[in-house]
Amino acid sequence: MLYDKLIFEISQKGRIAHDLKVETNNLKKALPKHLQRNNLDLPEVTELDVVRHYTNVSLKNFSVDKGFYPLGSCTMKYNPKINEQMANLEGFVNQHPLTPIKASQGSLKLMYEADRMISEITGMDKVGLAPFAGAHGELIGLYIIKKYHEVNGDFKRTKIIVPDSAHGTNPASASVAGFEVIEVKSNENGLVNVEHLKEILTDEVAGIMLTNPNTVGLFEKDILKMSELIHENGGLLYYDGANLNPLLGKGKPGMMGFDIIHLNVHKTFSTPHGGGGPGAGPVGVVKELRDFLPGPIVEKDGNEYKFVYPKHSIGRVGNFYGNFGVYIKTVSYLKTLGKNNLEKVGQLAVLNANYLKESLKDDYKLVYPQACMHEVVFDGLKDKSTGIKTLDVAKRLLDFNVHPPTIYFPLVVSEALMMEPTETESKETLDHYIKVLKQIAKEAKENPDILREAPHTTPVRRLDEVTAAREPKLKFKDL
Ligand SMILES: Cc1ncc(COP(=O)(O)O)c(C=O)c1O
Repeated sequence: MLYDKLIFEISQKGRIAHDLKVETNNLKKALPKHLQRNNLDLPEVTELDVVRHYTNVSLKNFSVDKGFYPLGSCTMKYNPKINEQMANLEGFVNQHPLTPIKASQGSLKLMYEADRMISEITGMDKVGLAPFAGAHGELIGLYIIKKYHEVNGDFKRTKIIVPDSAHGTNPASASVAGFEVIEVKSNENGLVNVEHLKEILTDEVAGIMLTNPNTVGLFEKDILKMSELIHENGGLLYYDGANLNPLLGKGKPGMMGFDIIHLNVHKTFSTPHGGGGPGAGPVGVVKELRDFLPGPIVEKDGNEYKFVYPKHSIGRVGNFYGNFGVYIKTVSYLKTLGKNNLEKVGQLAVLNANYLKESLKDDYKLVYPQACMHEVVFDGLKDKSTGIKTLDVAKRLLDFNVHPPTIYFPLVVSEALMMEPTETESKETLDHYIKVLKQIAKEAKENPDILREAPHTTPVRRLDEVTAAREPKLKFKDL
């Protein structure tokens, strides 16, 4: 089909399109002669060709703008367009990071506001904005734990406790930071087994990494007990804030005893997550750890904003000052939402997840029957006799223009289907999703091959996912 062709294939000599924003003459003057090329093999197409090409390519992709995207653990909520517009304001976009501080007061103010808002929401004293992703925030947090013990002359603390249900980045970050990882087991209710935690606590433990709600979508109700145990033992508590969404306006990690947190603001506060970025994983700390934050942090001095390097800072962890554009969206999201509406985010996210849980439990195997928080985990289809796997269910969903939920994570559930509807989806969308999943459960009994061969309607059919990830074909042709 003509519109399936790539732009290089429809090129015809002499066809042109114009973009008034690109001033070729000025570019030619600005660029030294030896860097200019006249024989580029570019497609020759009209503006209409270009518009159709990119529109058609974009439709081959799946995004939260196109359909429901219930990824568990990844909070793929709709990100209001106003936040993108704010991040595109000329004054922000065109500001060079080396602009003198005096001429950057507006940007520093925004960074300071992001710090203050995140601190208030999480119950921390100060937030550093440098990390570029959740996993980066984890690493920085662990370096802070390490340096804290070193400054206290406590060099034997070489171990970090991580639950068996943790996101893979947690043990990975702990290892990269040079710690030995010890696993704490979950109990039959999907929560950290506190008795096991007591058994593995020694004076070599530097701290524990937890998410709350945890990765099976359950609130760790023994968190105060755990925090007491860790603190009495001389360790610190690290909060992986990827799951903060359901707590917004309701609970603060600081009140649960956490000493260090990171947030995935690219999930919770309005930057589309996925596709590898852009992200930000700001790290917040309690007062006692303020001096260890990576520099620079923004402080207010009278009416002026300035960069400061904390006394025991673990140092710089990236170029310049973090992913500034992401923080513009964070501040814009929080200001347009308003403080009083924050808790509605958490309430609706929890309500939506429980609606899915109750509506699907007759067809899909519920792992933990108690009320969930923002996400619910099923262990595949309830009726296992059909041989249909979670992977088949996920692939079939694509035929209904629904992105599959997270599958085969967390590892503690073997056929995991992990769904996080988020607060931004309507009842009609959830009802459609439930109807589709019920139809799939019926197909598993009546026509299982349709599931084994799915997807049927996507531009490419079932892929070898390992090869697709390891050897992606990124070029249209070998140039
Ligand atoms: C629970 C949890 N922790 C940490 C991360 C890592 O965050 P990032 O992908 O920004 O590195 C994720 C990512 O999805 C997560 O779900």
